Amino acid sequence: MSISIASVGLSPEEALMSSLFSNIPSIPIDPIIRLWQEFTADRNPEKLNLVLGVYTDANGAVPRLRSVQKAERRWIDQALPKTYRPLEGTPGYRTAVQDLLLTANAGAISRERVTTLQTIGGTGALKIGADVLARLSPGATVAVSNPSWENHRSLFDAAGFAVVSYPYYSAELGGIDFEAMQAFLRRMTAGSIVVLHACCHNPTGNDLTPDQWRTVISILKARGLTPFIDIAYQGFGDGLDDDALVLGVLAEAGMEFFVASSFSKSFSLYGERVGALTIVAESADAKKKVEDLAKRIIRTSYSNPPTHGAVIVETVLTTPELRADWERELGEMRERIVSMRRRLAESLQQQFPERSFDRIKAQKGMFSYSGLTAQEVERLRVAHGIYAVDTGRICVAALNEHNIGRVLDALGQVLAG
Ligand code: LMR
Repeated sequence: MSISIASVGLSPEEALMSSLFSNIPSIPIDPIIRLWQEFTADRNPEKLNLVLGVYTDANGAVPRLRSVQKAERRWIDQALPKTYRPLEGTPGYRTAVQDLLLTANAGAISRERVTTLQTIGGTGALKIGADVLARLSPGATVAVSNPSWENHRSLFDAAGFAVVSYPYYSAELGGIDFEAMQAFLRRMTAGSIVVLHACCHNPTGNDLTPDQWRTVISILKARGLTPFIDIAYQGFGDGLDDDALVLGVLAEAGMEFFVASSFSKSFSLYGERVGALTIVAESADAKKKVEDLAKRIIRTSYSNPPTHGAVIVETVLTTPELRADWERELGEMRERIVSMRRRLAESLQQQFPERSFDRIKAQKGMFSYSGLTAQEVERLRVAHGIYAVDTGRICVAALNEHNIGRVLDALGQVLAG
């Protein structure tokens, strides 16, 4: 956003007298962050945070995974110097990330065409990727799903793109409006960028089927559209490999694409900000060029990525014993979410036999798109101290045996009107 003196109607003399900051227009706060701030300030001892996409265990704590703790101990014991890390991360980290994303589904893709760069979380990957694309296709339109994670639109908007929404979830259908989605994509101008959630769609939990993925990717290819895949929840849907299925479809289609991936959720390393941007290019030569561009953007943004979280992730992914521990722990998190989701849907069904809650059961990942209206979400917050996103998104990954009864009571009262 540029704010010039002329645009706010001040003479240069007046501008000298006033604060540099007095004419900043009011900046909207991201709704998830706003609600998190409100939650933090709330003095109600019974308050419950179902806003943030953070997994908590059966006791309501953010888990410290055993595999992560073991890797951390190893790292500390080595007492290695904390020197600068390469702009793009270490070769070991980059390869481990690529293997996790590509081996099962896109193993045939030549790694000569692929670059992976360590980023500051999945958001950092989206940001660096958006800035790369802004240099390559400055006038392009970016399409995000309707609805999408709130920050997608803001992020691409901040990179200078015109952002539009493609139809995705239909409240009327209680699922994906696939016809409308296809029709929209077929009309997009060549060169546009399409942001897609690989799995555990945020906020709706409604994912495309393998056949639907194949259809979407064939449309993108035929129309000359660039896919930007956001995979922040790998392992929370159907499993590590199934959740990355779209990457195989893209590889088969022989397309160039971007992937933003994150270890915040799957390693319960939210505050460490461990992520990666992976770019699959047409050729080794094109790969080298885009990698250099991304490195230049990283250098001029924050220079080098942080060490700690990435070392932990690399150690776990590449040490067979720790890797097996981690996959078990990830499976436990996934299964606990599924059981809480089922309990939520079945208990609501018992309370309201005339309505159907099947759609909640079918959703995947950390969130449930509950169908609550903004007014109902407000009642949940004001009358019961339970915080959800205004769109009706509830973090089922924050439910447990101790709080689910209370949540069900509150939802029962709110839905009864
Ligand atoms: C969410 O959607 O709640 C998470 O991805 C956290 C965030 O940064 O918004």
